[in-house]
Amino acid sequence: MKPVSIGILGLGTVGSGTARVLKLNADEIARRAGRKIKVSHAAVRTLGGESKVGTEHTHITDNALAVVNSTEVDIVVELIGGESPAHELVMQAIENGKHVVTANKALIARYGNEIFAAAQAKGVVVAFEAAVAGGIPIIKAIREGLSANQINWIAGIINGTGNFILTEMRDKGRDFSDVLKEAQQLGYAEADPTFDVEGIDAAHKLCILSSIAFGIPLQFEKVYTEGISKISQQDVMYASRLGYRIKHLGFTRSTAKGIEMRVHPTLIPEKCLIANVDGVMNAVLVQADMLGQSLYYGAGAGSDPTASAVVADIIDVTRSLTTDLDNRVPHLAFQPDQINDTPILPMNDVKTSYYLRLKVEDKPGVMAEISEIMGNKKISIEAILQTEPVVGDSSANIIMLTQRVFELQMDQAISEIIKLKSVSGNIQRIRVENLQEY
Ligand code: HSE
Repeated sequence: MKPVSIGILGLGTVGSGTARVLKLNADEIARRAGRKIKVSHAAVRTLGGESKVGTEHTHITDNALAVVNSTEVDIVVELIGGESPAHELVMQAIENGKHVVTANKALIARYGNEIFAAAQAKGVVVAFEAAVAGGIPIIKAIREGLSANQINWIAGIINGTGNFILTEMRDKGRDFSDVLKEAQQLGYAEADPTFDVEGIDAAHKLCILSSIAFGIPLQFEKVYTEGISKISQQDVMYASRLGYRIKHLGFTRSTAKGIEMRVHPTLIPEKCLIANVDGVMNAVLVQADMLGQSLYYGAGAGSDPTASAVVADIIDVTRSLTTDLDNRVPHLAFQPDQINDTPILPMNDVKTSYYLRLKVEDKPGVMAEISEIMGNKKISIEAILQTEPVVGDSSANIIMLTQRVFELQMDQAISEIIKLKSVSGNIQRIRVENLQEY
């Protein structure tokens, strides 16, 4: 059978890895795909990177549109990243009747609804396994492996850079910015690293997970997003004393009132397997009604691991070239006419437990004042830790864990507590998830 021709857009970390994997494992890949896969075209930003592709049969150009428009190319592999020109190129590829493989989470999160509708109309596949959790085949696991289940919730460590930073802060007491610099050097961080530390990258990925889990449109703008830049050494240490680890978690859950989609630092019990996912590694924990909990762990970034997912998609698309259009796996797991408009729950209506850290004057009656406010708001305190005041300072830190309450109740309580004369500075609030059945 004639080889399948692919055109790679972008030969950066993931693009060069993809070309390398296709070459290195060419025989095994052909045995699996049913035919050979050749990189017929590759587009680079500036010419000179030819050696990265490692095949003399590849036409290298700095004109990405020419690759998308080439009649020789069957599958366009978009590995440029970012929204533009990736969006325009992918839409043009679909318009040209080409299948697309992409690792671009921002593209799918922001334009996925439009892209999949166009692909459906043209009868082409857009595959995006590498967009979430790098090399971990989590899209396939949820979309196909768990298709007999109702998904209850998903909790994921889906940004390697953030996880690397939190791990190094905890284990080595290193500085936030110093660790970030190392993640950038290792090629894990986004071009704009605020995407990692402020949670935008994780929010892109979470909204994709949410769509394929619950059969809802992609709604990136509705993901509540909070980064890790305000997490201090003290929080990491107090969490640990209370038996928790702080992880930057993407969390999505189906409730009777709507779907939660949120990304924020979260205390999780240290005895949970996912709490022990350290460094740049990613993990996704899925609670499904029939299977119960299952955990997917692996490298969420880097050249070869991400290329592993990209090439798996290329193989899948190659196999699907001969399948009947109506029998392909739907892009968002559910048949397009079954995507529903279940509302996304506003944060005020989200229920979680909380970790609070506040600085108070060390004098009688302070705890009573705080407890009174909590009691009035019907917030139950589960644990309290008070640190000894340091010599020469009359204030002490109080750390509290609460039971599950609505975010609105907690916001109201915090706004009253902060007004107390005996409380100084900000109140640190971090959400807590016990990752049990709710
Ligand atoms: N910047 C991302 C991360 C790369 O750190 O996980 C993979 O999406």
